[in-house]
Amino acid sequence: MITTMFARTIHRRFSFHHSSISLSNSLRGNNSHSPTNLLRREMSMETERIVDRLKSSGLLQTKGLIGGKWTDAYDGKTIEVNNPASGDVIASVACMGERETKDAISSAYDAFSHWSKLTANDRSSRLRNWYNLLLQHKEELGQLITLEQGKPLKEAIGEVGYGASFIEFFAEEAKRIYGDIIPSTLSDRRLFVLKQPVGVVAAITPWNFPLAMIARKVGPALACGCTVVIKPSELTPLTALAAAELALQSGIPPGVLNVVMGDAIKIGTALTESPQVRKITFTGSTAVGKKLMAGAADTVKKVSLELGGNAPCIVFDDADLEVAIKGSLATKFRNSGQTCVCANRILVQEGIYEKFTKAFSDAVQNLKVGNGLSEGVSQGPLINEAAVKKVESFVEDAVSKGAKLLLGGKRHSLGMSFYEPTVIGDVKNEMLIAQQEVFGPVAPVLRFKTEEEAIQIANDTNAGLAAYIFTNSIKRSWRVSEALEYGIVGVNEGLVSTEVAPFGGFKQSGLGREGSKYGMDDYLEIKYICMGNMG
Ligand code: SIN
Repeated sequence: MITTMFARTIHRRFSFHHSSISLSNSLRGNNSHSPTNLLRREMSMETERIVDRLKSSGLLQTKGLIGGKWTDAYDGKTIEVNNPASGDVIASVACMGERETKDAISSAYDAFSHWSKLTANDRSSRLRNWYNLLLQHKEELGQLITLEQGKPLKEAIGEVGYGASFIEFFAEEAKRIYGDIIPSTLSDRRLFVLKQPVGVVAAITPWNFPLAMIARKVGPALACGCTVVIKPSELTPLTALAAAELALQSGIPPGVLNVVMGDAIKIGTALTESPQVRKITFTGSTAVGKKLMAGAADTVKKVSLELGGNAPCIVFDDADLEVAIKGSLATKFRNSGQTCVCANRILVQEGIYEKFTKAFSDAVQNLKVGNGLSEGVSQGPLINEAAVKKVESFVEDAVSKGAKLLLGGKRHSLGMSFYEPTVIGDVKNEMLIAQQEVFGPVAPVLRFKTEEEAIQIANDTNAGLAAYIFTNSIKRSWRVSEALEYGIVGVNEGLVSTEVAPFGGFKQSGLGREGSKYGMDDYLEIKYICMGNMG
């Protein structure tokens, strides 16, 4: 099971809660007494039960957070947050815009003078409190992620562990922001390098990892002494708000962490235009990333971007078939194919092509699709109807150009935004599905002859985030890893994300690195101090 593999590989430290509900994905039908409608009613009751529990524990926040105060939109507007598995409205949240964003920036700006002057130990221990609280509430946060994002509960709880690990890691790194003493060229001078926080950071985060992408940005920002305005995705703001509530409880002072959500364009414009915001960090689409980069130019902000990928997953003839299947399955179907590092093109060498596609399709057939709260489900719904339409159009394009449908290829009978786990063979690199991120549970398989050809196809894209290779040759694994124009390479491994390693891409997949010791750099300015008359 892919969820279990993901959980075991990345989050060994965290145990998983199993939902007691068991809903069969074999239920079908359309009339009002049909099993599908019963299933929907059951799902709605389940949503209600979880929402009630979250409300009573204080984790269901629906207002923005400005200067430590939960705040409505100034014009009272709200937006609904839906459960993609059932269509249920989970909550209505404040729909904010320019004015609220400007106030959030001012709060962060005011809080900076105090927060940046706390000792590293003090900031570190507050971050550690936050880490502890996130873990204490991992089941509730996991349920919230599943409700608003759709991923299976085990994977959602895994995300809480993954997200919390960034807070823990950067709580530790806070104490290791070292400067330098540079040997001077003149005997009466002393030269020093200090590292100082950049100031107010705007963190714009995506819906596919509603907690982890916030933690990967806010962890290092706060550790360095920066303050933050977070803009979570309008599709999944509830997890961000719950995490912010826990941040307040952990002793992170009012104004250090602010959250505004609603009108993405108005909020984004206010953040990019403000001279008080000194850095923008964004995870999301390449198109939006380019706009933010252009918008940040006017005030010359630091920018770090984690944008789209088009990951090749190369399976050589000499690969261990079982390892290659397990790894490809894990990287393709994590979060139903909705991650930037998901394999987007599976390149298989001709000698192993038939065997691989058969065994891979068999494994994909066993993936259970359904509501993420149901036991055993490893494939939840896609985030919304637009996502399904995109997947449908990519599959149609490939099939119309000669690709062969080996499994799936249509919407799932569960309805909503569920899509069948799909395998397509004989894909060519010119097809839409190989040129752009499909961001869904569709595995396009391409055939290649030589190592050179595989490298050429793999690098034939503007993206350069993650790549995977499966081979038993040590020489080849080095050679190909070095030749791939990608920021992350998995060798005989499909799950590569961890808080201790640098995450980020080459080419149009982004700028900067997140996680690891390198993840601090983007939140720090380097100051050179030249002291004269020291002789
Ligand atoms: C992403 O999809 O942007 C993040 C995936 C990860 O952290 O592994």
